Amino acid sequence: MAALDKILTVDEMKQKARRSVPKMFFEYADSGSYTEGTYRDNESDFNRIKLRQKVAVNLEGRNLSTEMLGKAVTMPVAIAPAATGGMQIADGEIKAAKAAEAYGIPFTLSTMAVCSIEDIAENTSAPFWFQLYVMRDRGFIERLIDRAKAAECSALVLTMDLQILGQRHKDIHNGLSTPPKFTPYSIWQMMQHPIWCARMLGTRRHTFRNIVGHVDGDHDLASLSAWTASQFDPTLNWADIAWVKQRFGGPVIVKGVLDPDDAQAALDHGADAIIVSNHGGRQLDGAPSTIRVLPEIIERVGHKTEVYLDSGIRSGQDVLKAMAYGAKGTFIGRPMLYGLGAGGEAGVTRVLDIIAKELDTTMALCGERDILNVGLHNIYSNDIPPRNAYPR
Ligand SMILES: Cc1cc2nc3c(=O)[nH]c(=O)nc-3n(C[C@H](O)[C@H](O)[C@H](O)COP(=O)(O)O)c2cc1C
Repeated sequence: MAALDKILTVDEMKQKARRSVPKMFFEYADSGSYTEGTYRDNESDFNRIKLRQKVAVNLEGRNLSTEMLGKAVTMPVAIAPAATGGMQIADGEIKAAKAAEAYGIPFTLSTMAVCSIEDIAENTSAPFWFQLYVMRDRGFIERLIDRAKAAECSALVLTMDLQILGQRHKDIHNGLSTPPKFTPYSIWQMMQHPIWCARMLGTRRHTFRNIVGHVDGDHDLASLSAWTASQFDPTLNWADIAWVKQRFGGPVIVKGVLDPDDAQAALDHGADAIIVSNHGGRQLDGAPSTIRVLPEIIERVGHKTEVYLDSGIRSGQDVLKAMAYGAKGTFIGRPMLYGLGAGGEAGVTRVLDIIAKELDTTMALCGERDILNVGLHNIYSNDIPPRNAYPR
């Protein structure tokens, strides 16, 4: 793992992950839906925003720490929920959760994780956030919420942009499944990565452990993927926030908002915070990048709630830009998965180090000492104009 020190950017981490992880799992992470246009725009729109350099400012005593949902964080970056982190490397979600805990940032476990809620609770001590997909089997969802509560998760992240699945062509071409199906092509993909295979043989965590053994009926592993895909509930609507919230009894963050009216509706129905997200370009291909819609959402609800952003964050510069437009925090999905694939817990820690260092240096060269003071004055926003009634 020493080579991780030599990795200087998230993109270099991605290349190392590409070399370390079987193709079907690497490409599961590195894909968007259909043409992947939104996936690409998420990253390229950040690059259009230029930063305003300021000089001759005392830069001593800089601060990146802030709060997300009332809890101190060492920087405004949280780990996004991502399915099958445990297929990038054995026990992946446990490793990412440990890295996040040590760093002092929130970790969010996906409903579709390989490691279960209980696995994370047993292996960490900081409270984590649990991401909920609402499924047709509401009895199962109630039990899932109860398990998150029993594990003392401090927030639920309710994902509302995946009632049906956007198609990702690469997954179909690669014959992706969790647990892996043993076809000649998948065996060939795995055999290219003997270290990955050896680690996988050393764990019993190979499937969706939040689900297996917790759903009614007798689902063998082969039918599990089909069961899961058919379970995403197309009837999910705003009114569901209330029962989720009531059952959980703690804060609910609504994830997947791209429209100001939806942001308002989420708040009207009880959301405690929202995540502006297009699922990393994996759902509605053709939707705008998140940084492009952030200003109108901040204008509408930024003075009433905490607005976070994900999709396309690849550097500390990107974090600073999102903060400049008014986000109160950001989430990283793929950078965490690439860190896992390239180096497990140490890989995720390295990703966090890279982003923190970039954020600190960028903030300083913009003439700011405190992340809380970052704002529109730090960017040239002609390409992505802020709106009128901006809260700061
Ligand atoms: C491989 C992969 C799996 C994901 N699985 C989930 C999931 O299970 N639940 C969810 O709410 N979002 C999921 N997401 C979306 C992320 O939470 C997040 O919105 C997205 O990754 C952010 O974009 P980024 O990857 O550019 O950082 C997934 C994203 C990826 C790349």
